[in-house]
Amino acid sequence: MPTPVILDVDTGVDDALAILFAVAHPDLDVLGITCVAGNASLEQVVDNTLRVLDAAAAGDIPVAAGAHRPLIAPARSASHVHGADGLGGLVLPATRRTARPEHAVELLRRLIMDRAEPVTLVALAPQTNLALLLRTHPEVAGRIERIVVMGGSASVGNATAVAEFNVWHDPEAAAIVFDAGVPVYMYGLDVFNRVSVAADRAHALERGDHSVGRIVGELLGSRIALSEDEHAEYTGLIGDAGAVCSIVEPAALRTERRPVRVELAGLGRGQTLVDRREFAGEDVVHGLVDPWPVVEVALDVDADRVARLFLDTVLALPSGA
Ligand code: RIB
Ligand code: CA
Repeated sequence: MPTPVILDVDTGVDDALAILFAVAHPDLDVLGITCVAGNASLEQVVDNTLRVLDAAAAGDIPVAAGAHRPLIAPARSASHVHGADGLGGLVLPATRRTARPEHAVELLRRLIMDRAEPVTLVALAPQTNLALLLRTHPEVAGRIERIVVMGGSASVGNATAVAEFNVWHDPEAAAIVFDAGVPVYMYGLDVFNRVSVAADRAHALERGDHSVGRIVGELLGSRIALSEDEHAEYTGLIGDAGAVCSIVEPAALRTERRPVRVELAGLGRGQTLVDRREFAGEDVVHGLVDPWPVVEVALDVDADRVARLFLDTVLALPSGA
């Protein structure tokens, strides 16, 4: 039976890759997609998401708009990475699809509560919508199988020296989600930064005769355009798509169950503190800290296996032209 999932996105170059993969993989049943401001404005994220669903020849998957900005912090887009349009300059055809009139929180609540079996939430963006859901409708917590979070890091940051963008953009929201008592699987930068497609493969796709392949190649290569402007190296990261891949092929990753806390203050604001100690320290021995939620943290990945899974799956989508 396919896993019922709801994606929460800030489409976004790599959110687009994740949506293509989720729609394409037979072991996933995408019940809906909710949008939040992050990589781009909420309006741009919604439009990008609808256009990507067209590119995937997806069925009538409900899409709803959510939060325009984080709970506390001001909105700070990642347009320097994803471009002003959020898709790295990729222009997809205008769409006749429309977002549902209900708010993302209401769509999430309805899809979760109407489903007989528990639903997996896939957080690929700042977690504002999910935090609002859990605070507004706490009854959903028992109906969520787990929350697969693209976010955080047990090591290096990207938005700051120590904080990953999705958590850093709305740390209060991330703290609410991690502390909600719902099982969390953290697909952080430790693995996010490792799964990529080589530049020559991306270029070949972009020039190829498969319409989805061309889109994927252009999205992967969008950083080349940014790189030429900013002289950074091509990365070809599949990004958020890797978090969705982890659902259908968990054996491709190595995880540890670790206490995790989201830092909300100071220079470390937005950092996910992952406690990898084998023994209690003075903080615990002297009762200086409350127990942190235990999270399944992805710490290693068979990057080639995941990249292959991603490409094989999205290239199985019908080629529009
Ligand atoms: O830090 C990477 C995350 O931030 C990804 O979800 C990317 O889409 C951006 O939202
Ligand atoms: Ca994202």
